[in-house]
Amino acid sequence: MTPSHEHRFRHLGAVLAEWQPVWQPLPFQHRRLPWEARYPAMAQALRELSDDEAARLQASPFTASPLSAWLPVDELASLVDLPDMAPQGPTLPDAWGTFVGGRKWRQIQAFAPLVAPDADLVEWCAGKGHLARALGRWHGVGIEALEWQAGLCRAGNALAQRQAVAVRLHQQDVMAEDAGRWLVPGARVMALHACGDLHGRLLELAASRGAAVTLAPCCYQRTEAANYHPFSEQGRREMAERGWRLCRDDLAMSVQETVTAPAGVRRQRQVANAWRLGFDALQRDLSGRDIYLPVPSLAYGRMPGTFDDFCRWAAERKSLSLPARVDWPRYEAEGFQRLGEVTRLELVRHLFRRPLEIWLALDRVRLMEEAGFQVRLGTFCERDVTPRNLLIEATPAG
Ligand SMILES: C[S@@+](CC[C@H](N)C(=O)[O-])C[C@H]1O[C@@H](n2cnc3c(N)ncnc32)[C@H](O)[C@@H]1O
Repeated sequence: MTPSHEHRFRHLGAVLAEWQPVWQPLPFQHRRLPWEARYPAMAQALRELSDDEAARLQASPFTASPLSAWLPVDELASLVDLPDMAPQGPTLPDAWGTFVGGRKWRQIQAFAPLVAPDADLVEWCAGKGHLARALGRWHGVGIEALEWQAGLCRAGNALAQRQAVAVRLHQQDVMAEDAGRWLVPGARVMALHACGDLHGRLLELAASRGAAVTLAPCCYQRTEAANYHPFSEQGRREMAERGWRLCRDDLAMSVQETVTAPAGVRRQRQVANAWRLGFDALQRDLSGRDIYLPVPSLAYGRMPGTFDDFCRWAAERKSLSLPARVDWPRYEAEGFQRLGEVTRLELVRHLFRRPLEIWLALDRVRLMEEAGFQVRLGTFCERDVTPRNLLIEATPAG
């Protein structure tokens, strides 16, 4: 039997809180992780993994994991096993995806059939209103769409006119006082990938005003608050009982995945990460302090062409003077060696990534249930379409 959301939320929270000392520290920042003293054999087992085995565990963290000798792998696997809500019936024709990026269109094709046209539909943080336009066309209904940027509203309205679909984009800051006027009983507000505070606002308004919601949440860390404030009463109570805290960096872990990045981009990121680790080894040696020094990230495509140029750039940013002679090949090699180690040690955090994401989604689910809504939580597509594949459907009861 599927556990209730209340039960799953409590159970996941207990496991996440218990194991936070193991999943919280970033292997990138520590040459020896704080938990290694307590679990030396686990660290050793990870460091000894072959490249293939490490890659396999990245793709399937819960399957035949050597970490089950120390960590509750099976328990986590069952806690993240959610109903598959992916639509089985017909979906939007491919031809309707003109003007929409390929990946975004596949997401819309998976998400749209799950938006029940049982109410007046409103799209929240709509961009150019691609989802609203597709659904308006499919069901032959009018849809209001809310977007903050005037340019996107103009472009979206022009597309709707061109396709003769009754979709209207309204320039609306959803964080403003007057945003609540769209969330009337009898409306269903849909949001595909609205970030942190934007979807939080949607749920809080919908809960208090009685509008239905269909939401794929994302970017939980994009929030004003430095520390996580649960949405639900259950979440607040249980976090207080456990004395448990989550900071913004913890939230970021729940969405750190690059399964959808093309191979070329992944390779570039790997080189950038290895160089950062190489620079880190160098700066520790130069300063004599075994402490991680954060270096700002570089915009895509701005990476210097060689390791030594990268280090010169990073040293300048950190006001660090480099000696005339540095053994660059040695530090670059150390960077790549550390990257292999970090990738393996990250497998511990990887195991808790999806559980944390689902716990955060369940906090939103519980807010709506506590307000008297019927709520479904499941996955709406495979992870290669988007790893942010959770869907929350909340409908006022009665
Ligand atoms: C991540 S995009 C999602 C867009 C669209 N739903 C999609 O899936 O492509 C978030 C959108 O929210 C809009 N946005 C950001 N802050 C907003 C606000 N305060 N009020 C309304 N829209 C906002 C952005 O301009 C952007 O178009």
